[in-house]
Amino acid sequence: MPATAVIGTQWGDEGKGKIVDLLAADADMIVRYHGGNNAGHTLVVAGEKTILNLVPAGVLHPGKVCVMGPGMVVDPDVLIREIDALKARGYLADDRWLRLSDQAHVILPYHRAIDRARERMREAGAIGTTGRGIGPAYEDKMARTGIRVGDLFDEAGFRDALGRSLREKNEYLQALLGEKPFEAADIIEMARGWRHRLAPYVTDAGAEVRAAIGDGKRVLLEGAQGMLLDVDHGTYPYVTSSNCVAGSASAGAGIPPQAIGRVVGIAKTYTTRVGGGPFPTELDDALGERLRADGDEYGATTGRPRRCGWFDAVVVRHAIALSGVDGIAFTKLDVLTGMDPIRVCVAYEIDGTRHVMPPATQRGWARATPVYEDLPGWTEPLGAVRALGDLPANARRYVEFLTKAVGAPMAILSIGAGREQTIRLRDVF
Ligand code: IMP
Repeated sequence: MPATAVIGTQWGDEGKGKIVDLLAADADMIVRYHGGNNAGHTLVVAGEKTILNLVPAGVLHPGKVCVMGPGMVVDPDVLIREIDALKARGYLADDRWLRLSDQAHVILPYHRAIDRARERMREAGAIGTTGRGIGPAYEDKMARTGIRVGDLFDEAGFRDALGRSLREKNEYLQALLGEKPFEAADIIEMARGWRHRLAPYVTDAGAEVRAAIGDGKRVLLEGAQGMLLDVDHGTYPYVTSSNCVAGSASAGAGIPPQAIGRVVGIAKTYTTRVGGGPFPTELDDALGERLRADGDEYGATTGRPRRCGWFDAVVVRHAIALSGVDGIAFTKLDVLTGMDPIRVCVAYEIDGTRHVMPPATQRGWARATPVYEDLPGWTEPLGAVRALGDLPANARRYVEFLTKAVGAPMAILSIGAGREQTIRLRDVF
């Protein structure tokens, strides 16, 4: 039974949390494979809201195994708080339902300090990171100076690695960033607490995922962020520090590429972005504010207001091409009720030439102007609709237009935050 990957096709915040929670009902194992607590997945179940930053969005289904894979970067304090909050509400009753890869990298206090200080220094050119230390932790991984979850369990080795790393980091923090240095002893003390609390979950997670696939279990691979935040294929340098394409699920979960049988792309029926960088369809006006208010478009992790704009078929097309998306889950169609006309960007014009795929360079992005098609709106609320045929004619026309514009079939349509506010059109396992 091959695994199904769920990926974001825009700049994150497409509603992956809701869709993963929904699909998790039919899965045995849910695996996060990249990123860290820069992600924020909002789930609404029976009217109760849960925000998850690290634990996979399958956790609200008791008995499902939730895995934090080798490709992740994990802040132990955040994870421990998240586990405690879930347990306090009766979730994660059995420690075997949560697995943490011993290969995942640890976000240490100096990673957060570097992330924030650098962003302050960048001023107007800031990336607008979440300030959670994600970039600096991935930098250390690539520089081969990172500390992995498994290293926390070898106190002498951890002490040596930390000492070597801190010598460089403290110099950098003080001399270049004007920040205070960190004491190794303080971090060693913190690590003792982490080791004790995390021990029940730490494992060779990749081996467990491969075994589950080998045993015919249904595995769901939960992407974080979105395609346009991919470090190679996104709007570089305004991206995150990991790959968000479906291909990265293989390396990040520790499974062969052939084990991924299906890819579901999540696309919001309009566009949002948090942080800096290009956003051709951005609405810097009352319409944008209306989308923000009606769609509750505030970052689940940082609370920052999201930038809002019209649906951009160019970026979603790119995501489909790079990730081999088999079916799309369109989300938040209900938010567009009352807007008329509704615009869809079908191409970019760059220096007088029409492009149906996005540019690869910053220079190209800076020159891209959207080519719009206008569609008529509708006024009826959609939250109670349960079948495509019950949508107002213009709402149906709109999603059918999006489906054609991006070139992948619609698998799911979401018309509200609740699990029940979902129309399923195709099986995704
Ligand atoms: P970082 O991942 O914290 O380094 O942030 C880099 C960029 O990615 C910033 O623009 C963030 O706002 C954005 N970003 C990171 N994670 C998410 C996410 O889960 N949703 C939306 N944007 C994100």
